[in-house]
Amino acid sequence: MKAIEVKNLIVEFDVTDAEGIVKSKRKILDGINLTVDEGEFVCVLGRNGSGKSTFAKCLNALLLPSSGDVHVYGINTKDEDRVIDIRQKVGMTFQNPDNQIVASIVEEDVAFGLENIGVKTSDLRVRIDDAMKSIGIYDLKDNMVSKLSGGQKQKVSIAGILAMKPKIIVLDEPTSMIDKAGRIDLLNTVKRLNEEEKITIILISHYVEEMSYADRVVLLDNGKITLDDTPKNTLLRKDELNEAGIDMPYISGLATELKARGKNLKGNEETVFELCQYLK
Ligand SMILES: Nc1ncnc2c1ncn2[C@@H]1O[C@H](COP(=O)(O)OP(=O)(O)OP(=O)(O)O)[C@@H](O)[C@H]1O
Ligand SMILES: [Mg+2]
Repeated sequence: MKAIEVKNLIVEFDVTDAEGIVKSKRKILDGINLTVDEGEFVCVLGRNGSGKSTFAKCLNALLLPSSGDVHVYGINTKDEDRVIDIRQKVGMTFQNPDNQIVASIVEEDVAFGLENIGVKTSDLRVRIDDAMKSIGIYDLKDNMVSKLSGGQKQKVSIAGILAMKPKIIVLDEPTSMIDKAGRIDLLNTVKRLNEEEKITIILISHYVEEMSYADRVVLLDNGKITLDDTPKNTLLRKDELNEAGIDMPYISGLATELKARGKNLKGNEETVFELCQYLK
C-alpha cells in the first residue's frame, strides 16, 4: 500500500474585498498528483508562497481539498470518522517551533499529544522516554522548553510526534529558525529516523542543500509540481530550479551538508556538478 496518494489536488482560498465580500477564488494548489512509497524520504522544495505549507496541511487533514483527493495509507482525508487515525499516522511539525509548544516542561510537552489519544497510563512513560531518547533529548526532559534553542525546540516537537508512533512525519521548514550546526544535527537525526525506524519523511524546504538528505525531490512552483526527480538530477536541472526561484547552493554549503551525511569528499571539488557524484 502507498503511504501517500494525492490525486488532482486543488486547494483554493476566497479572495475578499475590504468589506469581506468574496470576489473570486485563488488556486493555491493547482492539480497536484503525487504518490509516496512507505519509507521514502521526499524533499518538497519551493520558494516563499509556492504552496508548501498548504500542501503539508493537506497531508494530515488540517486542510481538505477544494477538489481532488488525498489518501494516507488508503484513508481519504475527507473521511471525518478517520481524522484521528490520520493524525496518528501523519505527524507534522510547523515552521516556527514556538507555535507548537504546549507545555512548559519538555517531557510534559512530549506527552501532550499522547494523552489526547487515550494511551494507557502504564504505556505513556515508556513511549515518552523512547521518543525522547530516539531524538536525543532525554537529558533535557526536565528543562523549561522556553530556555531551549530553536533546534532543541524542533526536537521536542518531533519527540511529541514520535511518541504517537507515526508512519509519516511531515516537517515544514524545520530548520528555518536554526543555525547551521543545529540544522545539520537536526536533519541527520531525521535521516536516522528514516533509515532505522523506516519512517516516511516529507521534508519541506526552500534550501536546495537540504535535498541532499532525501531520496527524491519534488519541486513546487505556484501550486504545481514542476519537477520530481533524484537529488542528483535535480541539481543538474538548473534552469527549472531557476524558474521556480530556487537559488543554487554555494559549493561550500553543499560540501558541508554532504560531509555531515557521511560522504567522503575528496576536497578538491570546485563545482556543484562535481559534488553531484556524492548524491543519490
Ligand atoms: N488561509 C488562507 N487564506 C488565504 N490565502 C492563504 C491562506 N493560507 C495561505 N494562503 C496564501 O497561499 C499562498 C501559499 O501559502 P503557503 O503558506 O502554502 O506557502 P509556502 O510555500 O509555505 O510559503 P513560505 O515559504 O512563506 O512558508 C500564499 O500566497 C498565502 O498568502
Ligand atoms: Mg510555509
